[in-house]
Formats: sequence, C-alpha cells, structure tokens
Amino acid sequence: MQLQSLIMSRYLRKNIAGIAGYIPGEQPQDSGFIKLNTNENPYPPSPRVLSALRKAAAHSLRLYPEPLSDSLRSLAAARYGLRSENVIAGNGSDELLSILVRCFVGRGERVVYPVPTYTLYDTLISIQEGEKVGVDYPPDFSLPGALFSQKAALTLLCNPNSPSGTLVSVREIEGLARSVSGVLVVDEAYIDFAEGEGASSLPLVKNFPNLVVLHSFSKSFSLAGMRIGLGFANEEIIADMMKVKDSYNVNRLSLVAGMAALQDLPWMMRNVSRIQRSRGKLTRGLKKIGFQVYRSHANFVMARKEGQNLRGLYQELKRRKILVRYFDLPGLRDSLRISVGTPQEIAALLRELESIQTVL
Ligand SMILES: Cc1ncc(COP(=O)(O)O)c(C=O)c1O
Repeated sequence: MQLQSLIMSRYLRKNIAGIAGYIPGEQPQDSGFIKLNTNENPYPPSPRVLSALRKAAAHSLRLYPEPLSDSLRSLAAARYGLRSENVIAGNGSDELLSILVRCFVGRGERVVYPVPTYTLYDTLISIQEGEKVGVDYPPDFSLPGALFSQKAALTLLCNPNSPSGTLVSVREIEGLARSVSGVLVVDEAYIDFAEGEGASSLPLVKNFPNLVVLHSFSKSFSLAGMRIGLGFANEEIIADMMKVKDSYNVNRLSLVAGMAALQDLPWMMRNVSRIQRSRGKLTRGLKKIGFQVYRSHANFVMARKEGQNLRGLYQELKRRKILVRYFDLPGLRDSLRISVGTPQEIAALLRELESIQTVL
C-alpha cells in the first residue's frame, strides 16, 4: 500500500502540501518475502525482553508510563558512563530527530548535512520550514570538507551513513563539533555494527556542549517493533528536548523492553557478530557477480552498478519475493541497499541475482 496520496485538505500548511512525506520501506503483509529492505535484525531480541514484556503486560497497563523514562535513562547512563541528565528516551530515534529539528530549527534556518543520507531528514526540515543544505559526499563517502565551513542551526551526520554504510572517524567528528556554529547531531542508529572498537562519538558528549548522539534499539537490539531510541547530550540540550517531547513519549512496554535489552548486552553482541560475518559473505558474493560494494559498517550494504538504473533489478527481485531498497533519487538509481539477512537469505539473494544476470 502506498502511504502517501495526492489527497489533502485545503487547510494544510503550504510547506507540508508541497512535500511528498517520508516513504518508509515496504512492510508486506504476505509473509512469503525475504525482507532485506528496512535493515531489521534477522535474529530475535533477547529472551529476557520477551519475559519482561509478558510480566509487564500482565499488569499496570491502565497506568501511564514514567513521563521521563527515568529507569531506562539511568540504566543507559550507567552503561555509557554518563549521568541521567545526559540522556533522553524517544519513541524510536526518529522521534528524537523530530524533537531536535523542532527544538533548534526555525523558519528559514539552515540545516546542513552530507548527502545522500537518511531521507527522513529532508521531511522533518521541510515540515519545520527550515532550509535544507545538502553537501555532496565525495565518491568515497569521506566527510566533505565543505561541511566544516557552513553556518547552520543544525548539522546532521548519519554515522555509519545510510545508504552507503560508510563510517567517519571519531577524530573527524570531534573536528566537526569544534567547527560548526550550531548543534551537531550524530545519528548512530547502526553504530553497533561498526568494525573495530571506539567507533562511537558518544564519549565526545562530555566535552562538546553542542553535540547530540542518537542510538536506536531497532537494529542491533532487534526491537524495531517496540520503537525505542536514546539521545545523549549535554544536560542543557537534553532539558531543551524534554520541553518539546510528548508527555508520555515512550510507552510502558517499550520501556520494559529497552531495559531488558540493555541488561543482556552479550545477546545483542552475539547477533552483531553473526551479522558482521554475513555482511562479509554478502559483500564478497556481490563483488563476485560484478557489483561495486562500499565497505559497510552497518547491517546493510550498498551495491552499485555505476551508471545503470537498477530499478528493473529491484522489481525483478521483488517478483521473485526478495525485497531490497531502491531509492529513486539522484545519485542512487544505480545502487541497491541490501540488509544483511540470515546466511540462508543471503544465499537465496545471491542465487537469484546470478540467475537474473544470466537472463538479462
Ligand atoms: C539512519 C537512521 N536513523 C534513524 C533511524 C530510525 O530508527 P528508529 O527505528 O529508532 O526510529 C533509521 C531507521 O531506519 C535510520 O536508518
């Protein structure tokens, strides 16, 4: 089903009438698909999450949840060596992005971000009537130098980036935090999948009063369906964000699920290792059949056939019951973003790709 339509009321604000709205990846109702299009984790969450949810669902649902998600905040603060005042919980990290744009971007104010990246940023800025300033990534997806010299109310950096999966170093982000004029948001939805230690910018939060780091429970913790995100920043920025959020923005069950997930980090890390291994296999398999593949630090890879429009390939895979992500956007039409599924799913994808290539 198409989520957006041309139907709108005459009362709608003009700036919203003019935008298409964010289009999420398809969630087919029919279960016969191999779903490699929305970067969900192919493995289930910790059994501790399920048992905590069962207990929580058995009572207390008639009561509102904690308004500030204090239990989850203090647990997360302890894990990352921060204080609760440095943490905010959200209904997914998408909600935290929305809160940030509403907090810091007024009409006509500039929001700068390297492109291509997560397209929700465009939608949120347009709703807020901010000015979108996309700075092109160079072909290797290293941090564009032009980002450093921009005046902006907000600078957004998706790290690892979607759809490229590429990673920028903490040292470079430190330099960026030092040089930008406004708030710098580092969207680390995929950071747990990064190769090597110390990829996260979270430790910088203590030193930079203008830095916000966002985490998501949707990817590494396998909890996309629960909608839980965390924001980390200086306590003044967190206080700003608290003013803008809904009163009870994280529901009781999500709070319980988030806490149980944080209490079973080995489970998450085991799943991450499996996905990293599969990512290597997927990358090698795609290269073998002629795709250019960027080195990914996320739970997806970007596969490219330079100059070829891959819409037909995407459609053919869909016909064969495999969903991947095709972005009908400048610079991305020759690429597919493919989530790292189970080894069986990856083998099926590579098999179909090979057979399509011989047909074409
Ligand atoms: C770059 C990026 N940031 C944030 C999100 C949103 O995550 P959440 O499910 O926590 O709202 C996504 C989801 O796909 C994403 O790709």
